[in-house]
Amino acid sequence: MHFTDKVILITGASSGIGHELALLLAKEKARLILAARNQAALEAVRNQCLLYTPYCEIVLMDVTDETQVNEGAHRALQFFGKIDVLVNNAGVTQRSKLIDTSVSAVRQLMEVNFFGAVMLTQALLPHFREQAGGQIIIISSMAGLMGYPWRSGYNAAKHALQGYFETLQTEQPIPHLYTTIVCPGRIHTPITYSAITANGDAYGKMDPKQAKGLSVAFCARRILKAMHKRKKVVLIAREERILLWLKRYFPPLFYVIARKGN
Ligand SMILES: NC(=O)c1ccc[n+]([C@@H]2O[C@H](COP(=O)([O-])OP(=O)(O)OC[C@H]3O[C@@H](n4cnc5c(N)ncnc54)[C@H](OP(=O)(O)O)[C@@H]3O)[C@@H](O)[C@H]2O)c1
Repeated sequence: MHFTDKVILITGASSGIGHELALLLAKEKARLILAARNQAALEAVRNQCLLYTPYCEIVLMDVTDETQVNEGAHRALQFFGKIDVLVNNAGVTQRSKLIDTSVSAVRQLMEVNFFGAVMLTQALLPHFREQAGGQIIIISSMAGLMGYPWRSGYNAAKHALQGYFETLQTEQPIPHLYTTIVCPGRIHTPITYSAITANGDAYGKMDPKQAKGLSVAFCARRILKAMHKRKKVVLIAREERILLWLKRYFPPLFYVIARKGN
């Protein structure tokens, strides 16, 4: 399956994985709708995409605001009269110990990473039902498959995403609706700059371990491949894969190793 002329809405398209995936889809001549809050960054991504596809629109949307999400979904539908693919990618990570992290910081992580994707999906499901199909991509995380230090709220939100969208996959309410859950490990993007800390403030710097993550270009290529194949789940990770294997088959060692990471 190719995405030429397909209408694709990507949240979190102003940076990192969303930006890179938008470029790959532009090269396939998809009709793109890029969503995020930072207008200048979105416009810069749009200008890059327009080098490859004649169709690229922008929707400003804070995924934690239900009104903005519903209005954004409505506006997105008006650009090309339909949406074929929704990529729920907007997200924010965390850098703080569980014991120090306020409940409001955990809520903030749930709002962006979980409720943002849920609200936008709910806003578009009636459209997918009407057109008898579509595709939804969820950018979850390896943190959605196991607990990991300094990520309590983030892990919780990504686990919630897994549960919610796995249910969509099992209920399959619309016959030709394909849902892919993507679980990346560490990817080298600016994600730690906006990471939420104990009191909700941004971490504001590149985490050295993040900088050693897989390249964002590699990650986006793997996501695109999974989209082409309409895979149910895809893991894009190195060390985290081993950790997950240990969790399943040798839990005592998992706890020892995972405890050392952050
Ligand atoms: N990098 C990794 O190691 C890694 C690993 C596993 C999973 N992931 C997941 O991959 C996704 C993308 O992360 P990334 O690494 O590309 O991070 P990134 O470079 O920081 O990009 C995050 C994107 O999310 C958007 N965003 C954040 N809060 C938002 C909000 N309230 N409303 C709307 N948009 C919002 C940001 O745009 P604005 O600031 O312009 O709104 C930005 O475009 C996230 O879901 C993340 O959890 C990343």
